[in-house]
Amino acid sequence: MQESLKHPVFKIISRIAAKEGIQAFVIGGYVRDLLIGRPSKDIDIVVTGGGIELARKVAASMKHPPEVSVFKNFGTAMFRYEGVEIEFVGARRESYNRDSRNPVVENGTLDDDRMRRDFTINALAVSLNEDDYGQLIDSFDGMQDLQSQIIRTPLSPDATFSDDPLRMMRAIRFASQIGFHIHPDTFAAIVRNRERISIISKERIVDELHKIILSERPSVGFQLLDLSGLLDLIFPELTAMKGVEKRGKYAHKDVFLHSLQVLDNIAPHTDNLWLRWAALVHDIGKPATKRFQPDTGWTFHGHEFTGANMIPSLFRTLKLPLNESMKYVRKLVLLHLRPIVLAEDVVTDSAVRRLLFEAGDDIDDLMLLCDADITSKNADKIYRYRQNYELVRRKLKEIEEKDAIRNFQPPVSGDEIIATFGIPPGREIGIIKNAIKDAILDSIIPNEYQAARTFMLQKAAELGLQPVSGE
Ligand code: CTP
Repeated sequence: MQESLKHPVFKIISRIAAKEGIQAFVIGGYVRDLLIGRPSKDIDIVVTGGGIELARKVAASMKHPPEVSVFKNFGTAMFRYEGVEIEFVGARRESYNRDSRNPVVENGTLDDDRMRRDFTINALAVSLNEDDYGQLIDSFDGMQDLQSQIIRTPLSPDATFSDDPLRMMRAIRFASQIGFHIHPDTFAAIVRNRERISIISKERIVDELHKIILSERPSVGFQLLDLSGLLDLIFPELTAMKGVEKRGKYAHKDVFLHSLQVLDNIAPHTDNLWLRWAALVHDIGKPATKRFQPDTGWTFHGHEFTGANMIPSLFRTLKLPLNESMKYVRKLVLLHLRPIVLAEDVVTDSAVRRLLFEAGDDIDDLMLLCDADITSKNADKIYRYRQNYELVRRKLKEIEEKDAIRNFQPPVSGDEIIATFGIPPGREIGIIKNAIKDAILDSIIPNEYQAARTFMLQKAAELGLQPVSGE
């Protein structure tokens, strides 16, 4: 593996470790990614002896010594060098107690250290020692598992998952990210230990969820989460969408499977995490709004409003940020049916203008979501939907070029209304501004200053207001 260790830091570590008489190895994700040809990120170095001291000495030996961050409690130290984070840790033996992820740590050998790692493919190490530099160390058949694309724990899976239940999410995340299969014994242990996920913080769980959502086929991860019983524990709003109900000739589709399909559909078109989130939860309001009408079958009236209303509390429960990203997801959930309604109806300028106004700069993302939402198996239907969306897209472009509604600013400001009528700030200002906005969106007046000002004078007169300077 010598030729694969291209980063200049490896030679430096090797030299300093030899001088200090200690052994150092590259381990974990870096070795795994190198072997499967995935771009590798951070480098983990395990040292028999003091990891912190070696990190300091390696950093000090450089021409421009990088700053070393030391985490005494974890016995680790790291610095950045030539664009990568390099983390040093002393080889450890660990034992855990049942209520915490935080282990009791003692010094150990390389094998102790490798045994306590999550999966065989993450327990491969490469020597940085001068006598066998570049030698692969593989005592848990990690290479074999890499070749057979298997995710398996080096020890009994119950011990590995009970020690650190986050690893159950990691197994599923790797399966989704790199397309490997979880070994049946390992998967059975996830099912058995699933309740232990309760000791893991929401932030860490969500971090893994994000990685699943950002993988090439996120449905793989969500199906495994569901199959293992973890999904019900960490995200019951999704499992509530599962299932098909049939009454007479009427059956509705499985909203959970549909949502996963929409997420898979959007994945090749965007790496925007929040747009992918919107795809996953666009129908989250369906279970609460499901009704059966004897003549027409199943309906989900208003599920876009109910769904949008659920987003802030969902984000709060999952400890997701309650910022612009939340508002963006909420907006897309709220608007996700609008282009469909538009496409089914006669596409009027005014309806297109209103959609542009409400979606603003997110209109292109909304259209991507709508495209992904087409999961019908009926080729005729798919064709018809796509044609209609093309028409909506053309209209959107036409109107945007003509009227610039996307970043709509009212042509007459509140200050101007106050000055013109000599009135204090209050309700009337809002009424007049809204009337101007509606008149523009409904094509009653063009989106221009003079027309808006004339309209303002008319509207104000209806409210009994006269301009102060006799216009
Ligand atoms: N590890 C572990 N158990 C965990 C987390 C990490 O055993 N819960 C070990 C694994 O050997 C892993 C290494 O620590 O390879 C580094 O962890 P991390 O950087 O979190 O993961 P990577 O495997 O590098 O993968 P990614 O960067 O994609 O998260």
